[in-house]
Amino acid sequence: MSTDQSQAARSPQDIAKEAAGRHAASYVTDGMRVGLGTGSTVHWTIVELGDRALNIVCTSTSVQTQELASSLGLNVISPDEIGALDIAIDGADEVDPAFNLTKGGGAAHTREKIVAAMSPRFIIVVDESKLVPALGPFGTPLEVLDFAPGVVASAVEALGASAVTTRDRRSDNGNLVMDAQFGSIADPVALGDALANTPGIVEHGIFPSSMVERVVIAGLDGVRELVNDLR
Ligand code: A5P
Repeated sequence: MSTDQSQAARSPQDIAKEAAGRHAASYVTDGMRVGLGTGSTVHWTIVELGDRALNIVCTSTSVQTQELASSLGLNVISPDEIGALDIAIDGADEVDPAFNLTKGGGAAHTREKIVAAMSPRFIIVVDESKLVPALGPFGTPLEVLDFAPGVVASAVEALGASAVTTRDRRSDNGNLVMDAQFGSIADPVALGDALANTPGIVEHGIFPSSMVERVVIAGLDGVRELVNDLR
């Protein structure tokens, strides 16, 4: 994505994504260790951080983000080198009213979950279209070892999925990426636990609300925030 796209060529959703992404960068201050998510919304957080030229150290959740952040002059080191984070910022594919998330539309959810878990503050940036009454319509992304994918898919169907499909593209970790259709998910935390206990699934794309501090949302009327007070 170009950072100099003309406003005229961009959709209202793209403009909202930029507003949410840039707004979230205001939570980053000098000296912080920052986890950088992946996707077209947090793209703008990274661009804003590059514009502000802060004295920060970052770690990345994908090759795509690593390349973007480095090209903008940000100092990006590995999770092991950075050790711990002050803040992590990322997008989401779905956000439910209780702050549970679906992630992994870009196949980066394993690294995203590792990086999010390194930070006491996890801030989500989305446009309004990502807010859903219940997780599920997007599908649930799964990163799966390429050893027995049919066995894993059957196990996921036994948990209630009506279909499990495999993407053409692998993750940055070289693993398969699948999408499971569970319909409307009544208990995302319980389903996440069941998926985590399924051998062969490296990581699933359900991020529980306990991880999420706040959601920055941009729509046609501007930017607003939802804060997870129950965390
Ligand atoms: C990457 O695997 C995903 O978890 C993204 O964070 C998510 O798909 C959000 O991406 P967009 O901001 O591009 O919608």
